[in-house]
Amino acid sequence: MVSQKMATFIERASWIRRMFEEGVRLKQKYGPDNVYDFSLGNPHLEPPPAFFDALREEVEYPAPHVHGYMPNAGFLEVRQAVADYLKEEHGLDFSPAEIIMTCGAAGALNVILKAILNPGEEVIVPAPYFVEYNFYVDNHGGRLKVVPTKEDFNLDINAIASTLNESTKAILLNSPNNPTGQIYPEETLSELANLLEIHNKKYNTLLYIIMDEPYRKLVYDNHQVPSIFKVYTNTILATSFSKDLSLAGERIGYIAVHPEIKGKNKLLEAMILANRILGFVNAPALMQRIIKKIINSSVDIKIYKRNRDLLCEGLRQIGFSFIPPKGAFYVFPKSPIPDDTAFVQALQKERILAVPGSGFGAPGYFRLAFCVEEKVIKNALPHFEKIAKEFGLI
Ligand SMILES: Cc1ncc(COP(=O)(O)O)c(C=O)c1O
Repeated sequence: MVSQKMATFIERASWIRRMFEEGVRLKQKYGPDNVYDFSLGNPHLEPPPAFFDALREEVEYPAPHVHGYMPNAGFLEVRQAVADYLKEEHGLDFSPAEIIMTCGAAGALNVILKAILNPGEEVIVPAPYFVEYNFYVDNHGGRLKVVPTKEDFNLDINAIASTLNESTKAILLNSPNNPTGQIYPEETLSELANLLEIHNKKYNTLLYIIMDEPYRKLVYDNHQVPSIFKVYTNTILATSFSKDLSLAGERIGYIAVHPEIKGKNKLLEAMILANRILGFVNAPALMQRIIKKIINSSVDIKIYKRNRDLLCEGLRQIGFSFIPPKGAFYVFPKSPIPDDTAFVQALQKERILAVPGSGFGAPGYFRLAFCVEEKVIKNALPHFEKIAKEFGLI
């Protein structure tokens, strides 16, 4: 018998399965080309040529003893490459000691939460948010406290302030954001940092900011993703190469802590042990060695920008309202009716697959992932138009 908790979780996650099953059914019935699947954040682009070059090199010129166990934090030279990259990106003096290679961002977040949470401690997350956070926080005995964001999906500092209490342990942020595509601006992050500093003094504590940044390189129109490390010292970064190198199935990412974070050695020790005892042991060896060679590469972001422009312009013309995404590969329009699940079902009748905002803690919206072939967008637009007419948008 499965545990009661897992039985409940399966029930809570079942709408995802139902949507997936409906997608499979539609694709079988109408053929995959006649179903417009915007439901998954699974990049459609192949990894860049640099990845395949590095992979071939690893196979053709193997270094000795690279397939065995290694330090649980990862190969030293790989962590050095990550530290060098972060030094450039954030202008801070990172060393390999501050880096832990992980099984994707999901692995990174689980390692962080296991290392820091006492039972019942709270993790604040602004909605809309990546649905798996619910499960990750629960995995480690914590409680997720969801706070609303503003109309433009920027952080609502007052809402965060009124949620902070003695049991708060961390704020978990994701920018560029899944599902909104928004980037939290530097001024807002500074405001948040000030708020946390005041709280830290008042309660003689040290709240963490956990920044989940797998979309950092996927930004459009010269938008910049501010460095969280520059505004708050008690920061832990979780990220991966799932999205910017299209390596989601290879499970490779890392954790970085601020070089001056308080209690650094103990924290790193705890996270390295968590990496081991959560059963990851270490991040995949082959992928680590490849990442060392291609850490500055990414997929061709122009393709995602073209997709974003095509989809957003198409939706705008037929009356959908949304905040244009600055990064990531999602757009999060308002549902024309309050019941976003019913609206997503109406889209399915037109063979369009989307995810209801309720799944991200934001009812009244729906998410479209535009990491798809351009023809999917082009072919879907007339169907969106039919729906727009049906719901009175045009
Ligand atoms: C915001 C966010 N965090 C974490 C993840 C997990 O990424 P990974 O595949 O690197 O574990 C995702 C995946 O979609 C995501 O959107």
